Amino acid sequence: MQTPSLLLEKFENTLKNVSYPECPEGLYEPIEYVLSAGGKRLRPVLVLLGYNLYREDFEKAIPAALALEVYHNHTLLHDDLMDKADVRRGRPTVHKKWDDNTAVLSGDTMLIMAFRHMLTCDCLRKTELLDLFARSMQEICEGQQYDVNFEHRNDVREEEYIEMIRLKTSVLLACAITAGALVADAPKADTEALYAFGEKIGLAFQLQDDYLDVYGDPAVFGKKIGGDILCGKKTYMLINAFNRADEATRQRLFSLINDKDMAPAEKISAVTNIYNELHIAELCCEKINQCYDEAKAYLEKLSVSEEKKAVLWEFAASLLGRKN
Ligand code: IPE
Ligand code: IPE
Ligand code: MG
Ligand code: MG
Ligand code: MG
Repeated sequence: MQTPSLLLEKFENTLKNVSYPECPEGLYEPIEYVLSAGGKRLRPVLVLLGYNLYREDFEKAIPAALALEVYHNHTLLHDDLMDKADVRRGRPTVHKKWDDNTAVLSGDTMLIMAFRHMLTCDCLRKTELLDLFARSMQEICEGQQYDVNFEHRNDVREEEYIEMIRLKTSVLLACAITAGALVADAPKADTEALYAFGEKIGLAFQLQDDYLDVYGDPAVFGKKIGGDILCGKKTYMLINAFNRADEATRQRLFSLINDKDMAPAEKISAVTNIYNELHIAELCCEKINQCYDEAKAYLEKLSVSEEKKAVLWEFAASLLGRKN
């Protein structure tokens, strides 16, 4: 089994050599801009690791890895437009550098390109693979819709939040690792356990993203801090701040979140102060650890060697405490 860093290197080399049409420039230039901007490449590495658990010739899973990364970047173009985010991976977002229409159309094109990459995949269980991919895409749209709906609600429960992040984020990590295993024709019990493993890691990953949106270093995180607070996103942190606060603090938090006139920096700092008073960061970290423990239990069920499980676990654990 290859190391995640070697798989990442192979993937980056392949991605660099993928050529897309040049015309119309307004459509393809933003795609090139986004795909060359780095990113952790977590999903393609998960595809290749999922394959590598069962077979050595990981090149077979490269088309699926490309499909997942191009699709992920499609979601980011649309997500940044929806979240009014100006900065991603330390650079202006597509709708800022170009315009909203560009983010929509170049984003749509990436979705189609992702599907075309998946179609080139040599896989015995192609229909199953395409169905998994298509189902994940639809669920991500459902998650994004809940995320937007929740901006306008103040009574979102923790279970609703967890289901929303499962849909918007976890299913893609679960799809990635399962797709790799499917291409390798892994046993059904294993693809199911890997999917559940990916879901739990995905929950931890989004919880941590929400945490970093408040406590991250923007130079490393690559996004502006406080975007979730300004959008009124119902994150694990905000929901639990509402739950833990006394009546006076809850009212203060409520009016802060719904204040349309307050200066952004002032709002972010006032909400962060309430999180600090209520020790919300610690609570969030506990929840992340709980998701990791649950993920580990699914990993144990796999039919592969302990050495292989260890490689996958080490990679998953390296995401715990991520900074970007
Ligand atoms: C960002 O994903 C969107 C979330 C699900 C939080 P990543 O944090 O994997 O983004 P990149 O690809 O590394 O930039
Ligand atoms: C990520 O949610 C979900 C998708 C992109 C589908 P966020 O909105 O938290 O992601 P970032 O923080 O903008 O990367
Ligand atoms: Mg966003
Ligand atoms: Mg979003
Ligand atoms: Mg975020």
